[in-house]
Formats: sequence, structure tokens, C-alpha cells
Amino acid sequence: MHSITWKGRLGPLELQASNHTFEPSTISQLVANVLEVEEGDVVIDVGCGTGILGIIAAKLGASRVYGIDASPDVVEVATANATAHGVADKMQFFQGDLFSPLPEDVVADVIIGDVSGIPDNLAAESGWFPSRVGGGPRGAELPMRMLREAGRRLKEGGRLLLPTGTLQDENAILDVARSVFASLKQLTDRMIPLAAPLAESKSLRELVDAGIVKLTARGSRFVWEARVWECEKPQPV
Ligand SMILES: C[S@@+](CC[C@H](N)C(=O)[O-])C[C@H]1O[C@@H](n2cnc3c(N)ncnc32)[C@H](O)[C@@H]1O
Repeated sequence: MHSITWKGRLGPLELQASNHTFEPSTISQLVANVLEVEEGDVVIDVGCGTGILGIIAAKLGASRVYGIDASPDVVEVATANATAHGVADKMQFFQGDLFSPLPEDVVADVIIGDVSGIPDNLAAESGWFPSRVGGGPRGAELPMRMLREAGRRLKEGGRLLLPTGTLQDENAILDVARSVFASLKQLTDRMIPLAAPLAESKSLRELVDAGIVKLTARGSRFVWEARVWECEKPQPV
């Protein structure tokens, strides 16, 4: 285990991470900034990593937070972080695929849907993901599966926070989000400079040529665009 400092919302917070743990990124910060939780809400943090977004939800007033991650030691790592920040009594972590480890009857007011979402070969080259695995060949397959499974894990009127970006097949993800949810509202839009090793990568060039990844030139550099969406499940009529 090693220590990292979360400098986003409610930070600075010291977090433990292992060699298997995804370290919170700019996207984590964007999601944290727009996270709205009401007193007593039930929250599911799918793809929870260190547990940071769920910990913030607990600190904002959630009564119960469930975190799930595919990382092999997520229960140990995220529970240590929840304990260190005084919210372990509200939080429970599971290791496994998307929502499948959760008890059948768990439904949430808010789902934080920040699962891996860059193309697998960029995940392998960027070093951002310890597993070196991303969200599928187009960076969209895992988020799309998450969205299809999320509907039944949300209460009526519940909301899912969805980060997307131009480093993945964003339109494919948004098409699925529109088919599952009643409404989709964009909360954030941020231009992010492309890190040097990726900018030179052959895989990235192939993904751009295939129209999957979209970059914008800024002087001698490239930027990509990240967004966070709020997807709402319809209320009964
Ligand atoms: C972009 S990271 C975000 C982590 C965390 N939300 C944060 O902000 O730091 C995506 C996370 O999804 C997890 N993940 C990948 N595939 C998954 C799956 N099939 N089920 C659950 N989690 C998964 C990864 O291990 C990783 O921790």
C-alpha cells in the first residue's frame, strides 16, 4: 500500500492505494464537483477505485453507500479509506463485475457510473490503469454495459452520473444512455491536454483515423474533451 493525496472536492484527503488501485484523476475531480447527494440518499459507486467518490457522497449526507470495483483488493483498500475518513459505518465495498456482487434488493437514489472508459490499447499504453485494461476496444463497451444494467439499480426519479469523453466512442455511449434514461443533462465540459506518451502513440493515431477518438489541435499540442452527464430515470406517471 502507498499513500496519495486527493486534492479535489472536500480535500485534501489522504488515501491508501495498492498496486492494483486506480489513482483518482481529473475526471474523478470533475465527477466529484457535480455530485449532489441529499440527506439519507442511497448511493452506488460502480468502479469505485480507492472509494473516493463514495466517501464524498457519504460525507455529503448519504445514508448508505455501496462501492464495487473489479480490482482484486478493492474491499481492503476502500474500506481502509472509508475508515480513515470516518464513514465506514455507512459504506460497504464489493469486488466483482459492475452491479453483480450487490444484494438483489439494492436500489439507489444516485449511481456514480465512473467505470473504465478508454480504449483497451490506450489503457495499456497510458499507464493510467494498473490492470492495463480499459473499457473495451472502443472504450465504450464497458460503460454501455454499465448503463444497460444501471436502470434496474436506480429508484424512480434517481440519477446516474456518467463521465464521457472524446478519448472513447462517446456517441455510442450517449446513444445507449438516451435509450435507457428519460433525460440526459450535460453538467460539465473540460478540455484536457493529451499527455505526451499517448500523443505519440500509434494506437491513438489508428483510433483517430477510425473516427473513434476525436482530438483538437491547440498550437503544437492536442486536447481531448471530457464531459459529465446526469442521466435521470423517469418518475412513474
Ligand atoms: C476511471 S477508474 C475510476 C475510479 C474511481 N471512481 C475514481 O474516481 O478514482 C475506473 C474503475 O473501474 C474499475 N473497473 C473496471 N472494470 C470494471 C468492472 N467490470 N466492474 C467494476 N469495476 C470495474 C477499475 O478497476 C477502475 O478502478
